[in-house]
Amino acid sequence: MLVTLKEILDLAEKGGFAVPAFNTYNMETVMGVIAAAEERKAPVIIQSYSRLFNSDNGYYLSPIILAAAKKATVPVCFHLDHGATEFEVIRGIRYGCSGIMIDASSLPMNENIEMTQKVAKMCRDVNISVEGEIGHVGTVNDDSMGEFTTVAEAKEFTEATRVDALAILVGTAHGRYKKPPKLDIQRIKDIHNAVDTHLVLHGGSGVPDEEIKAAISAGIRKINFGTDVCYSFLDKVFETSRSIFAIDIFMKDATNSVKEFAISKIKLLGADGKYE
Ligand code: 13P
Repeated sequence: MLVTLKEILDLAEKGGFAVPAFNTYNMETVMGVIAAAEERKAPVIIQSYSRLFNSDNGYYLSPIILAAAKKATVPVCFHLDHGATEFEVIRGIRYGCSGIMIDASSLPMNENIEMTQKVAKMCRDVNISVEGEIGHVGTVNDDSMGEFTTVAEAKEFTEATRVDALAILVGTAHGRYKKPPKLDIQRIKDIHNAVDTHLVLHGGSGVPDEEIKAAISAGIRKINFGTDVCYSFLDKVFETSRSIFAIDIFMKDATNSVKEFAISKIKLLGADGKYE
């Protein structure tokens, strides 16, 4: 069933686990994630990068995600990841998202707040939850990591915007890490105690299991996985025999590989069996 980001993260807060948010790119990655969620009776977030919403990909992919969410017996949120402009947010709303991220984290605090407030108002009116970001989560290729999110910033931002979820910078980055990241677990705990919103960890691919578990115990409720969804799919595509030419059959192993990857993260995040 399709649910909002707030509804799915409320379940996680109540149960003390985190909901995995998988970035999807095509029908097969969506099918792999949904099959995993159904088999493990787990709530999941299916999200797509905003760049897909700026091309025909989003136009074709959104109905697939919605169909999967509506058919599923477990709660599923359809989320726009890293919406950067109002234009992308409006497309997300039109395409049926039940969660929207507005990422204005590279702007100064006051401009980030202003932009997020505008989007939050737009989305609240039509019952769509909003994720904001404070402290910019960059990529593994950046020269250095930005300043970690402070408790004071998180409080100021959430009180001003009333976002349903907040992405914070506590040691992760997007992409394949050159060396395993070390998270600031105490900072997560302090922010979780100080704000009344659900905390999000971006850059989940390659974060060691122990760090993930500690982050959840400290209060993280949504963890994003993008890079490793791609590798789980593509590694299998490259292994699949060229003699198979029926595309649906060719794609079976790669779809299954996404399913297995999703199951491993559902279990790691404690979402396994959380929706009977
Ligand atoms: P990774 O690609 O590093 O898993 O990050 C995904 C992400 O945070 C999407 O917003």
